[in-house]
Amino acid sequence: MDLFSPVSLGDLQLANRVVMAPLTRLRSGDAGVPGELVADHYAQRATVGLIITEGTFPNAESRAWVGQPGIVTDEQVEGWRRVAEAVHARGGRIVLQLMHSGRVSHPDINGVGRIVGPSAVAIDGEVRTPTGKQPFPVPHALTTEEARATLADFVASAQRAVAAGLDGVEIHGANGYLLHQFLSPVSNQRTDVYGGSPENRARFLIEVATAVSEAIGAGKVGIRISPQHNIQDVFETDPADVRATYDALLDGLRPLGLAYLSVLHQEPSGELVQDLRRRFDGPLIANSGFSSPTTRDEAVQLIGEAHAEAVAVGRLVIANPDLVERWSGEHPENAPDPATFYAAGAEGYTDYPTLAAGRH
Ligand SMILES: Cc1cc2nc3c(=O)[nH]c(=O)nc-3n(C[C@H](O)[C@H](O)[C@H](O)COP(=O)(O)O)c2cc1C
Repeated sequence: MDLFSPVSLGDLQLANRVVMAPLTRLRSGDAGVPGELVADHYAQRATVGLIITEGTFPNAESRAWVGQPGIVTDEQVEGWRRVAEAVHARGGRIVLQLMHSGRVSHPDINGVGRIVGPSAVAIDGEVRTPTGKQPFPVPHALTTEEARATLADFVASAQRAVAAGLDGVEIHGANGYLLHQFLSPVSNQRTDVYGGSPENRARFLIEVATAVSEAIGAGKVGIRISPQHNIQDVFETDPADVRATYDALLDGLRPLGLAYLSVLHQEPSGELVQDLRRRFDGPLIANSGFSSPTTRDEAVQLIGEAHAEAVAVGRLVIANPDLVERWSGEHPENAPDPATFYAAGAEGYTDYPTLAAGRH
């Protein structure tokens, strides 16, 4: 297969297989409302096959950072409506990543007074808050009822996203945030139906995906996982347990017929990812993680050798609004500037030049 050929992921029809990876950029202010700048940023990148938005919080206590957008208030929903319209006007497709931070936050950030997680186990380290660095708090362990209320917040947020005109949602089960915290036996020490065995630890994520699918249609729902990522103290170091947990997860997801499975793992073509893909029995979006930016050669090879249906590309889409044109014509790329990844304003956000601009 060719990286530049069309593909369908559930209800999502992509013009090519270059997917903009979810990328937190913190340009949505204290109120978490994506404004014109955010709409411009995404619209500039509308020629990728699919845009997956930055991680967006589905309820107030799940906010991880100041500047992160939400999909809770009417203003936030209207902001996303303008983003979706801007992307669609350029012929693009866009799904919203629903991200619950769980314990990766602080009351000084979310302003709610409590931080939640599967269990009262804190991350060993410090979090940057508006009042300086502080130790990560010990999270309040969600009760079974509270976990179900959180699930309902995912559902309501997915409905708001679709009502705002987005093409679907991606459930963030990766990178050490709440849903990933449920999967690991280190961050999840519960004794109810959501803790203990691999099946129980996978249950919450399966229930969230099931409920969101019932609400907006499975063909509009993707899910992201990052097995063995070992990030933010969500440790998955026992290979047998990883297998058992993710096998249980994929067995629960397969019957839903989700639009796609997105996996962040350093070896997308390796045994674990390819086994999970077969178990999922649907389209795979691959990404090899943070160690080095995804290259054109890597993306061409993953698709050419049929290791994935599409490739999520992060940093090079940040730096190249016209990455598909550059890659298809084998043109040179702009280099990303990490200093502006999480900064404010247009610099390093909407001012990376296109090829066309460079030719003038
Ligand atoms: C600035 C930045 C922000 C990110 N934010 C998110 C996010 O909100 N959600 C997520 O699932 N992954 C996030 N990631 C991970 C990316 O989606 C991607 O997996 C990573 O950048 C590796 O891909 P790349 O080598 O093509 O950049 C982020 C990465 C970067 C560099």
